[in-house]
Amino acid sequence: MERLETVRQKVIECTKCDLCKTRTNSVPGKGNFQSEVVFVGEAPGRNEDKNGEPFVGVAGKKLSAALEEAGVSRDEVYITNVVKCRPPNNRVPSTKERSTCQEYLKKEISIIKPKIICVLGNTAFNSILGGSEITKFRGKLVRKDKQLYFLTIHPAATIYNQELISTLEGDIAKLFDLIRELKNDKQVPIDIEYTS
Ligand code: URA
Ligand code: SF4
Repeated sequence: MERLETVRQKVIECTKCDLCKTRTNSVPGKGNFQSEVVFVGEAPGRNEDKNGEPFVGVAGKKLSAALEEAGVSRDEVYITNVVKCRPPNNRVPSTKERSTCQEYLKKEISIIKPKIICVLGNTAFNSILGGSEITKFRGKLVRKDKQLYFLTIHPAATIYNQELISTLEGDIAKLFDLIRELKNDKQVPIDIEYTS
C-alpha cells in the first residue's frame, strides 16, 4: 500500500495531463489521514494554485464556516479535489483531465478508507458517481460498491446565493450526524443504492 505522502509527492511532480503546463502548483489533498470523511471538490482555483493547498480561497472559507457550524475543525477532516491542477480561467475540467487524474483520488480514498465520501457539487458528482443535477440530489446518502457517499452543493455556489449557506450548513450538519451514527454502529438510512 502506498503512503499518502507518496501520492502527494506524485501529484506535485505529475505531468500526465496538459494542466501541468499552466499550473503554478499542483494541489494535493490535505488534512487528517485518519478522517472518517473525505471532502471532494472540483479543481483548484486561483488561490489554491498559488498556495498548493485545496479550498483556501473564498469557497474554502465557506466550507470552513459550514464545518465550524457543525463543530468540526478543518484539520480533523481530509479535503481534496477530483482534479489536482487548476484549469485555465477556472473552466470545468474536461472528461479526459478528470479521468487522467482519477488515480490520485482513488489512492487517497483507498488509503484513508473514509466512512463517507462527501461529494461537493456537480463536477465531483458527475466524476465520481456519473450523476448530474446536484441541487436535486443534495442532502442524500448514496451507497455504491459498499462505499457511502454524501451529496451536497459546491461551497462556491453559496458565494453569490446567500440562501444556499443554510443549505450547505444543514447538509454538513446532517453529514456529521450520519458519521456519529455510523461510529456507534447504528443503521443509517440509504437514500440511493447504486448497482454497478
Ligand atoms: N473549488 C474547488 O472545487 N476546489 C478548491 O480547492 C477550491 C475551489
Ligand atoms: Fe497530473 Fe492531475 Fe495535474 Fe493533470 S491535473 S497534471 S493528471 S495531477
